[in-house]
Amino acid sequence: MAATPIILDCDPGIDDAIAMLLALASPEVDLLAVTTVVGNTSLVNATRNALDVLEWAGRPDIPVAAGEAVAIGPPNDIPWNDAIGVHGETGLDGANLPRAQATTVDEHAVELIARTVLGRPGEITLVATGPLTNVALLLERHPAVGPALRDLVVMGGSLVGGNMSPQAEFNIWCDADAAAQVLALGLNPVVVGLDVTRRATLSEADVYGLEQLPTLGPGIHGMLKFYLERHIVWHGLNVVQQHDSLALAWVIDPTLLSLTPRAIRVDATDGEGRGETYVDEDPGAQPTARWADDLHAARFRELLLERLSALADAR
Ligand code: BDR
Ligand code: CA
Repeated sequence: MAATPIILDCDPGIDDAIAMLLALASPEVDLLAVTTVVGNTSLVNATRNALDVLEWAGRPDIPVAAGEAVAIGPPNDIPWNDAIGVHGETGLDGANLPRAQATTVDEHAVELIARTVLGRPGEITLVATGPLTNVALLLERHPAVGPALRDLVVMGGSLVGGNMSPQAEFNIWCDADAAAQVLALGLNPVVVGLDVTRRATLSEADVYGLEQLPTLGPGIHGMLKFYLERHIVWHGLNVVQQHDSLALAWVIDPTLLSLTPRAIRVDATDGEGRGETYVDEDPGAQPTARWADDLHAARFRELLLERLSALADAR
């Protein structure tokens, strides 16, 4: 079967970097471009990290385009301050990657995505693993892009408690206005939230095992070791949750997730619930998303470890 062409819109970010590596390692997908957005770290850091990961992994030819440096809605100052404790000052602490020679393309993320998708209508899947700021602007400025996508996959949201507030998940919390806009468009995205990503984990032993891989092993291990230590500090967990690579993995193998049509809404008010995702209980409410409510966690873990190993061997 032909590889699915994808664009990854992300905020690397340790688990975003792992999602990038999973894409590069997987013949089922063809990573056409990486676009960046403020989120886990500043736009400058996220863009540098994307370039560094691609070049280190042997794919400096994949274009990187920078997107938005601030959210559409509040908190539109520097939401990434809140993620330093998880991803570090650089956004990719622990990895110690060599600095890339490649630079970004001379095109805004939104324009790159629009041009690429409209040039291949019905073919490209957009995977968003950061705040939805770029995606909301894309669909507002270029309304023809939504229907021209093969699919839209979003990592974000939760119906089982948040990681930024009691109910709000980080990506949605960072730009609740953007997320509300995207979900209101009727595109019916696949939404992969904490309901499943909290169960998509690598163990401490897995993280240490990755250090033994050739070439990329120390970098992968370094970033995941940092991430693991943060999971211990923040959540008392000695596993690392792989939020973003699980969303990417759905494109590789859709049978990894169970999806249910749900009328998901985003609280974009100024109240305490800002950034929460919830189900609209109105009996007439139409589904807005294909919500991931279950996963094959063991199969996902095997896929991720096998692909990271194959990528390191091939490098
Ligand atoms: C999401 O927030 C970020 O910290 C991760 O990269 C992931 O995209 C999980 O809530
Ligand atoms: Ca992310």
